[in-house]
Amino acid sequence: MEWTIKSLDQYNTDYQRSLNDTENYWAQIAKTFTWHKEWDSVLSGDLSNADVQWFKNGQLNITENCLDRHLKDKGDKVALLYVGNDPLEKEVRYTYKELHEAVCKSANMLKSLGVTKGDRVCLYMSMVPELLISVLACARIGAIHSVVFGGFSSSALASRIEDADCKLLITNDAGFRGNKIIELKEIADEALTLDQCQCIEKVLVHKRVGNEVQMKEGRDVWWHDLYEKSSSDCPAEVMDSEDPLFILYTSGSTGKPKGVKHTCGGYMVWASYTFENVFQMKDEDVYWCSADIGWITGHSYITYGPLLNGATTTMFEGVPTWPDAGRFWEIIEKYKISHFYTAPTAIRALMGKGDEWVNKYDLSSLKVLGSVGEPINEEAWEWYNEVVGKKNCPIVDTWWQTETGGIMITSFAGVTEGKPCFATRPMPGIEPVLLDENGKEVTGNPAEGNLCVKKPWPGMLRSVWGDHERFKQTYLSAYPGHYFTGDGAKRDEEGLYRITGRVDDVLNVSGHRIGTAEVEDAIDEHPEVIETAVVGYPHDVKGQGIYAFLIVRSEQNEDDLREEIRAEVTKHIGPIAKPDKIQIVQGLPKTRSGKIMRRILRKLAAGEFNSLGDTSTLLDPSVVEEIKKGLR
Ligand code: PRX
Repeated sequence: MEWTIKSLDQYNTDYQRSLNDTENYWAQIAKTFTWHKEWDSVLSGDLSNADVQWFKNGQLNITENCLDRHLKDKGDKVALLYVGNDPLEKEVRYTYKELHEAVCKSANMLKSLGVTKGDRVCLYMSMVPELLISVLACARIGAIHSVVFGGFSSSALASRIEDADCKLLITNDAGFRGNKIIELKEIADEALTLDQCQCIEKVLVHKRVGNEVQMKEGRDVWWHDLYEKSSSDCPAEVMDSEDPLFILYTSGSTGKPKGVKHTCGGYMVWASYTFENVFQMKDEDVYWCSADIGWITGHSYITYGPLLNGATTTMFEGVPTWPDAGRFWEIIEKYKISHFYTAPTAIRALMGKGDEWVNKYDLSSLKVLGSVGEPINEEAWEWYNEVVGKKNCPIVDTWWQTETGGIMITSFAGVTEGKPCFATRPMPGIEPVLLDENGKEVTGNPAEGNLCVKKPWPGMLRSVWGDHERFKQTYLSAYPGHYFTGDGAKRDEEGLYRITGRVDDVLNVSGHRIGTAEVEDAIDEHPEVIETAVVGYPHDVKGQGIYAFLIVRSEQNEDDLREEIRAEVTKHIGPIAKPDKIQIVQGLPKTRSGKIMRRILRKLAAGEFNSLGDTSTLLDPSVVEEIKKGLR
């Protein structure tokens, strides 16, 4: 590729240029894409006014850049390699030509169901090729996709459908995941009977598992029935750069999940540019990101980033530990994966199963290893490097967020050096700063503070769906003129960045982002609960576990209550948010003004009794002793 950064020197030059000559820098990169009309201005608006626009009045369709553009030279190259849950099931390959055809047919199918430009379509699916195809089919006709992770409950699905006012829902009959079958259609049906969820007109059902499901007359349509009848000719809808491309819900420290809004032009440039530079792939390489398309990693680095680069992307339906703990390594050997991108929680879980699972397989195809989603601890980094990468594969520890659209701080594989537990350097265009509590920049090295970004970048979110005020409040108000990430970070003597984790009430459990407030709201639904406080605590495999402290109405059988609380959380959010530990307490540590001191609860949950700090200002300091005694 024309603009791939190939050396540390070039990185330094490009980085400086991206900050000093921002518009020309991004214009030169954007020009390598297919546009129907070039932009009037590269960057307009700013963070202070929350009105950033990139490539204003440019016209494009991202799917032409993902697919059509490659047909001439790469039409027969494998675009998508699909590996099912069961190792005995044969893999499926789509060449660029075949994927193009499948996307066009599916796009026509959506049109025949009445979907038009600007409509929202909810995708509640398991990891089947038709999920990736549906994402692109929406983008083809300018419909805005809102993918909801298949592990969310019916009520979480309903509230997301309703918030985005989706017209169409695409789901599967059910999905395979390890030894489980997830009844997606049944959960979707439940969601659609909930009061708040009235906007869905049609449900398109893709058959994966083949068990019987209820089809509601007039509303539900089988994918295969319509697909067969659909034409493969579907010219791409011409979109404005700033038209929304997708909405993706993510958790914050307060309130219900936010619909992060990404737009067509800037997101395309960012997803493509970051993928190209971070992974440094060659044409013959095979890339595999083990994330789910229900999360941003699956949007940017299974779907858009690789396809924009004409790469072969692998999609895996299953889990790392089924049928056994060798599954990932078996896939790498069998399909000669060269670039493997996964989360620290998976690395830690597999590390715990022993090296023999890795050593059984020939991993000599591997060239680059990636990590994403949470801080990677030293032990896991070393294991990934030595046992998986045989000290031969650079590790890119990529820090970013749903909101950032793509990777922000990272090393470039084989180009800039990595450092254990450090994300290292900012992408060109990203000017990270560390700010203290008072909003003052901490300069010099080493340094530590709240991680913010000084300037707009092409892939940044543009808004929170339906609530621009919340967008401003959440990201742009804490430190005016800056984007606030919610993370803390350190900078070492050389200026390399290490992310230390969230500084707000957001948890990162097995790489899943969960707001403590959401979990508390779910627990509060239980009739016996008077008050609850949820915090994270260090967990060997998950990174963070969920610890819930509750005050309840009357004497309870504690074990039964714990089960009921877990069921309550599963019902309102999904199994990923179930508390690991639940402790019933008489009181919570509160200030005299009634505010729960979460800092103290976090210390207690982590067993750090020596650093509790001053507890004398609490309304009732004795609760601390009581909690300490009952810790689980
Ligand atoms: O705390 C950071 C952590 O994950 C958060 C973003 O979560 P989400 O929006 O779900 O996106 C995850 C995939 C990009 C961040 O605020 N995080 C992500 N990557 C890293 C990380 N923490 C440390 N190191 C990383 N590489």
